[in-house]
Amino acid sequence: MVITDAVVPVAGLGTRLLPATRAVPKELLPLGRLPVVQHVVEELAACGIRRALFVTAPHKAAIRRHFDEEHAGVELHYVDQHAPHGLGDAVRHATGFAGDRPVAVALGDCLLGDGHRRSDVVQRLGAALEAHGAAAAVAVEEVAADAVSRYGVIDPVGGDGGGDGDVLLLRGIVEKPAPADAPSRLVVAARYVLAPEVFELLAHTPPGLGDEVQLTDALAALVASGRPVVAVRLRPDERRHDVGSFAAYARSFVEVAEADPELGPALRAVTPR
Ligand code: G1P
Repeated sequence: MVITDAVVPVAGLGTRLLPATRAVPKELLPLGRLPVVQHVVEELAACGIRRALFVTAPHKAAIRRHFDEEHAGVELHYVDQHAPHGLGDAVRHATGFAGDRPVAVALGDCLLGDGHRRSDVVQRLGAALEAHGAAAAVAVEEVAADAVSRYGVIDPVGGDGGGDGDVLLLRGIVEKPAPADAPSRLVVAARYVLAPEVFELLAHTPPGLGDEVQLTDALAALVASGRPVVAVRLRPDERRHDVGSFAAYARSFVEVAEADPELGPALRAVTPR
C-alpha cells in the first residue's frame, strides 16, 4: 500500500541541546548541507508521500519559513501543539488529516539512511501493514542492552529472531523500560505507519511515562485488544541519525557529511585521515 500522507512531529523543546537550540529549533540544525527535518521531508517524498502535516509549536516559526522555499514537492500543512504533552498528544493533533487512509509518522529530528541513500522504510511499513492486516507498523533497530531505556522497546512474538524475516508480530511494546525489564533489544526507530483506529485509541490514552501521552501506550493497547501490530527491521545500511544529544548530533553530522557526494571529498581533503 502506498502511503501518501505523513505527520511530522517537530514541537519538542530541544532542551538537551541548549544553548544551541535557544533560538534555532533542533530540527533546523544541519546534518551535512541540509537541516535534519529537510532530510526527513526528502526521505518521505522519495517514499511517495505527497502531503505532510507538521505538528509544531508557536516558538518554532522558523521551520515554516524554511519550508516556504524548500518543500521538496510535498504539500505542507501545520498545526500547533501548544504544550509539550508528549508524542502521543502531538500525533493526535493529526486526527482526521489522512481521512480513512493509513498515515506515516516520521519524527522530525531523526534521519534514516545517510542523506544520500535515503531509507524506504516508510514504504516497507505500508506494505507490512497491508500484508498483515495490521493496525500499526513500526520501524525497529537493535541497540546495545544499556541503551534500551532511551526508546520504545518491542516484545516480538517468538523473541528477537521470530517472524517472517524482517517483519515481526508484536505481543507487547513498552516505553523506555529499565534495562532489566526490557522485553528485547529491538527499539522503535522514529518511523511508524498508523491505521485510523490508532487515532480513536489516542483520543483516550491517558498520560503515561513522564506524565506525557505516549504513542507507545496506544500501540500497547492495540496489541492488548488483539489487533495485529507489526515491526519492520531497519537494514544494516539504514543508520539512524538523530540530533537527540550533542554526541549523537556531532557523530551524525560527520557521517552524513562524509556520505555526501559533493561535501564528502571536500571534507576529506581538509581533514585527511
Ligand atoms: C520517541 C518515542 C520512542 C522512540 C524514540 C525514537 O522518544 O517515544 O518510543 O523509540 O522516539 O524513535 P523520544 O526520543 O521522543 O524521547
